[in-house]
Amino acid sequence: MKIAIVGAAGRMGKMLAALAPSMGLEVVAKVDVAPGFDSDWPADAEGIVDFSHHSAVPQAIAKAAAQGIAYVLGTTGLDAGEQAAVDAAAAKIPVVQSGNYSLGINLLLELTRRTAAALGAAYDVEVVEMHHRHKKDAPSGTALMLAKAVAAGRGQDFDASTIYGRRGDIGERPQGEIAIHALRGGSVVGDHVVMFAGDVERIELAHRAQTREAFAAGALAAVKWAKGRACGIYTMRNVLGFE
Ligand SMILES: NC(=O)c1ccc[n+]([C@@H]2O[C@H](COP(=O)([O-])OP(=O)(O)OC[C@H]3O[C@@H](n4cnc5c(N)ncnc54)[C@H](O)[C@@H]3O)[C@@H](O)[C@H]2O)c1
Repeated sequence: MKIAIVGAAGRMGKMLAALAPSMGLEVVAKVDVAPGFDSDWPADAEGIVDFSHHSAVPQAIAKAAAQGIAYVLGTTGLDAGEQAAVDAAAAKIPVVQSGNYSLGINLLLELTRRTAAALGAAYDVEVVEMHHRHKKDAPSGTALMLAKAVAAGRGQDFDASTIYGRRGDIGERPQGEIAIHALRGGSVVGDHVVMFAGDVERIELAHRAQTREAFAAGALAAVKWAKGRACGIYTMRNVLGFE
C-alpha cells in the first residue's frame, strides 16, 4: 500500500517513515514545509497519514477528499473551523481521527471498561501511573481516561467517585471509590496499571510505553484498516474492532 506522510520532517513524521516499510507500507511522499521535503503527494497514493500542524489540516484533507484517498489524522489542537473541514471531508472519504494512536492504550481502555462492567463495585479500583521526573502535570491524561473508563463501565459518575492519592485519617475505603496515584522518577516514558482488588483475588491491567513508536505503529495500522472503508469518521475503537 502506498502512503504519504504529512508533517514528515517532524518527530512523529520521521518515526512513521522509519516504521512504514516494516508494516508493508511504501512511503511515496514525505510532505512538509521544511526544506528538502515534498510539497504534494502523487495521485496514486492510497492513504495519507497526517501528524503535522492543525493549520495544515483543512487544505490537506480537502485534497485527499477530492482524490478519494483514505486519511489518518493524528494532528491535534484543531479549532472548530478546522474540525468542520475534517467532518466535511469525511462525507467523501474514510477518516480515522484519534488523540492517542497507541494500540496498547486503546486496548487497555477497552479492557478496563469491560472489566469494570463485569466485576462491578465489589472490586476496589486503584489506577497507578508512573512517569519521568520532567513531567509537569499529574495525574496523566491517560490515567484520567482509564479512571473514566472504569466509571463508564460501572455506570458511575466520574467526578463523584474519584479521589487523587490518600493521606491522614481517611477511614475505611468506601465501595465504588476510584483512586488515582501518580508516581514520578527517572526516565519512565509512561506506565499505567489499573488494579481491581476483590476479597479473594486481584486483577491488574498494565501498559508500559517505551517510545513514540507506539503512536506511529497505531497510526500505520489505522491507514491499512481505513483503505477501502465507507466514508465517515472512525476512531481507534473502530480500528481495533471494538465498535
Ligand atoms: N494522536 C496521537 O497519538 C499523537 C501522538 C503524537 C503527536 N501527535 C500530534 O501530532 C502532531 C505532530 O507532532 P510532532 O511531535 O511530530 O510535531 P513536530 O513539531 O515535531 O512535527 C510537525 C511537522 O509538521 C510540519 N508542518 C507544519 N505545517 C505544515 C504544513 N502546512 N504542511 C506540511 N507540514 C507541516 C512541521 O514542519 C513539522 O515538521 C501534533 O499535533 C501532535 O500533538 C498526536
